[in-house]
Amino acid sequence: MTQPPTSSVATLSQDDLKTLVGQAALRYVVPGDIVGVGTGSTVNKFIDALAGMKDQIKGAVSSSLASTERLQALGIQVFDSNDVAELSVYIDGADEIDHQGYMVKGGGAALTREKIVAAQSRQFVCIADESKLVQTLGRFPLPVEVIPMAAQRIMRQFEAMGAQARLRLKDGAPLVTDNGQHIVDVTGLQITDPLAFETQVSQWPGVVTVGVFAHQKAQVCLLGTATGVKTLTF
Ligand code: A5P
Repeated sequence: MTQPPTSSVATLSQDDLKTLVGQAALRYVVPGDIVGVGTGSTVNKFIDALAGMKDQIKGAVSSSLASTERLQALGIQVFDSNDVAELSVYIDGADEIDHQGYMVKGGGAALTREKIVAAQSRQFVCIADESKLVQTLGRFPLPVEVIPMAAQRIMRQFEAMGAQARLRLKDGAPLVTDNGQHIVDVTGLQITDPLAFETQVSQWPGVVTVGVFAHQKAQVCLLGTATGVKTLTF
């Protein structure tokens, strides 16, 4: 006998929650506009959903080579950010988000382009499963994109703050970002004042981008939870 579909969302996997929030983000896409698109496994769900309304949008500005490839494979035109003055909305995931909409991002090494596209967007809509919601930023290792010749000095500066810093590796060698730079991951931080922290670290010589998104915080978070998608506004 065929089982009836369950109405409970309690059994949804983390992947299912990502699909739900990816689909829920479609309602923030303005027909006729170019949409800002982030990077990561949650955004991949959004891109897949966006393909269903590709004829209603002009295209996208993308925050990574990976997202660009996925968008183009689905027939969505990708514009250079220099050719677009302003975007109505930027949709992206996060590694952590707090109750003010401040985020840590860059687990996928795309933080610099993500911050650039966020800065040119009127609204940042964060899509995340509930594991990403935190009281205080800092549990997830903070990604910092750095100019390679400054990496050791920047790591020592974090260690002087009482944190631990490591160069991110890929296949045994320093990971190289889409921008040709390296990533330092920092643990042991409690980022109680994200705005001040982002301002301070951004000024260190050799820092390209710090993965705290406070000046470019989210205005909305679509949070995938066991009881469905919750909309948080900040
Ligand atoms: C990419 O560099 C990141 O900022 C991502 O937005 C973040 O890591 C979230 O990725 P997931 O959706 O894969 O968790």
